[in-house]
Amino acid sequence: MNKVLVTGGAGFIGSNLVDKLVKDGDQITVVDDLSMGLIDNLPQNKQVKFYHETITNHKFMKSLLIKEKFDYIYLLAAVASVADSVARPYETHQVNQEANIYILEIIRKYHLKIKKLLFSSSAAIYGRNPELPKKENSSIEPLTPYAIDKFSTERFVIDCGKLYNIPTVAVRFFNVYGPRQNPKSPYSGVLSLISQSILHHSTFTLFGDGRQTRDFVFVQDVIQALILLTKKSDVEHEVFNVGSGEHVSLLQVIREYEKISGLSLKIIMRQQRIGDIKDSYADIKKLTKYGYEPKFNVYQGLKIYWNSL
Ligand code: UD1
Repeated sequence: MNKVLVTGGAGFIGSNLVDKLVKDGDQITVVDDLSMGLIDNLPQNKQVKFYHETITNHKFMKSLLIKEKFDYIYLLAAVASVADSVARPYETHQVNQEANIYILEIIRKYHLKIKKLLFSSSAAIYGRNPELPKKENSSIEPLTPYAIDKFSTERFVIDCGKLYNIPTVAVRFFNVYGPRQNPKSPYSGVLSLISQSILHHSTFTLFGDGRQTRDFVFVQDVIQALILLTKKSDVEHEVFNVGSGEHVSLLQVIREYEKISGLSLKIIMRQQRIGDIKDSYADIKKLTKYGYEPKFNVYQGLKIYWNSL
């Protein structure tokens, strides 16, 4: 039985990970401030201990880490909204970078023996770089405080992991979608917004001509990648793209979704959003070499998502 910490464990990706860890028989501690996550996302299960706390509470995080002596740590807590990071760069920096560095600092200072720490970064760090597909060694062109924080924390986790002999790994998420994705903000993932519009027969605003493409990766495939990278003891101090390796246009996705739901989406077209990129998809060869194999295409993933709503 492993002791596992999941920060952001009540959120979209975090709670799907917690479900999997419960099945694997692990003892899980979740720290989440519920700014985007929901308590209802967590299973009522003796294996799961929940703390309604922010990771920026240093005193709390220090005593938790020293007391619990975790085997595995997943750093998924973040202010995930890029728009938020533009509006409140310093506050989001404290969550997206500082709090994570502090966790590493406690591990270093108190010589905590962990088996693996994983940090979740983002494809946002590639920014305006037009190269396709994006490789892990493609140039980094962050455009927002969010992307800058994700990139610097990723480097810190990897390079300081090496320097202080802490086993770490980082992942760059592409466009993750699936059950429990929060559609709360206009900057939430586009598939969560489309889902809400179909479900409530409301109008969806399509920015641009709908021919922009994205690498939509189903959350269960992401969980597969996270478990794989933490459990492989020979993978250390590396960063990996996590995507499906394919890209589809928004119009294609909408068509698929209409087929699945049997409903039609009311669309209003608007000009392309400022700063939007045209196309994005991941080169996932580095990860597939270690056995990662995406199991859900967009049609299969959307079907599960739709049925969960
Ligand atoms: C994602 C990130 C973004 C990051 C970028 C860099 C999310 C939610 N967004 O943006 O923070 O900077 O990757 O790789 O993870 N769209 C609409 N209508 C809507 C919402 C979106 O047409 O109501 C369009 C967008 O204009 C965009 C596409 O859908 O062209 C996808 O949008 P989004 O889900 O926000 O993802 P990214 O643009 O890839």
